[in-house]
Amino acid sequence: MRILVMGHRGMLGSDLIEILGREHEVLGVDMAEFDITSAADCVRILGEFRPGAVVNAVAYTDVDGCETNREACFAVNAVGVRNVAEACRAAGAKAVHYSTDYVFDGTKGEPYLEDDVCRPINVYGESKRKGEEALAETLERHLLIRTAWLYGRGGKNFVKAILAKVKDEGTLRVVDDQVGSPTFTLDLAQATKLLLKLDCTGTYHVTNRGVCSWYEFARRILEYAQVAGVTVVPIKSGELNRKAARPAYSVLSNRKFMEATKKAMRPWQVALNDCLSQMRAKG
Ligand SMILES: NC(=O)c1ccc[n+]([C@@H]2O[C@H](COP(=O)([O-])OP(=O)(O)OC[C@H]3O[C@@H](n4cnc5c(N)ncnc54)[C@H](OP(=O)(O)O)[C@@H]3O)[C@@H](O)[C@H]2O)c1
Repeated sequence: MRILVMGHRGMLGSDLIEILGREHEVLGVDMAEFDITSAADCVRILGEFRPGAVVNAVAYTDVDGCETNREACFAVNAVGVRNVAEACRAAGAKAVHYSTDYVFDGTKGEPYLEDDVCRPINVYGESKRKGEEALAETLERHLLIRTAWLYGRGGKNFVKAILAKVKDEGTLRVVDDQVGSPTFTLDLAQATKLLLKLDCTGTYHVTNRGVCSWYEFARRILEYAQVAGVTVVPIKSGELNRKAARPAYSVLSNRKFMEATKKAMRPWQVALNDCLSQMRAKG
């Protein structure tokens, strides 16, 4: 199949190109080639490549930045998604799109299911929810994948931030009152390929297996990266004074994904270890 990957220079997008490119004819486009907030750009890009499917990994992902740049954030995460869905509908292509655990308020206390009520508590979550709605309203042949706590070999992410911080600091303060499922973008790209192969449509939750706090995640990163002599101190979210609120519990149930694919995602610890080994091997 011909697949257009939007946002291929991003963290997830770069892994999508690698994984989907092993079986499909792929083309990547990013800021340099088009602006997702322009409906005309989306139509033009689809017209040039004529894909059977578009995988959209473009997003405004600065969660705190969204609080002060509401308009720009909605332009990309909501209007942009509608533009992609409309262009796909006109071209007869399927659209695959990603959303986030932050569409939920984090009060459920057990893993969120695909049809649980969305109640975002920050602007990023609101904009991503609007994008979900725009996609579902505009295009029947869509696959919406909600995921969480992404990290990967490319792009800015928590794993890299922790490893960079320990170079200067002997003590790290990390929140222990938010829990979720860290997810390796390479695993998410593999899961996307599988869902595409099975021609799944509708909404699926996909994360690596298991749950931890950011504090536990940070400790595991240091353990697997064999960094010694650093103290990790658990703190509360309120101590960070961040602009955006975060859900306290944003675990997504993978049950629907497992039923559809007969596959389970790897435990987050295994995926993290793999990512760090690959980063080490690359140097
Ligand atoms: N990161 C997470 O923890 C997380 C968690 C849950 C869900 N998600 C979702 O997963 C998906 C992938 O996230 P990611 O972290 O891989 O994103 P990312 O690394 O921030 O990549 C997004 C890409 O989109 C590009 N882009 C931004 N605005 C654009 C525009 N107007 N037109 C065209 N391209 C534009 C960016 O270019 P520039 O870099 O030049 O701006 C970047 O290459 C997103 O839908 C995100 O909401 C992410």
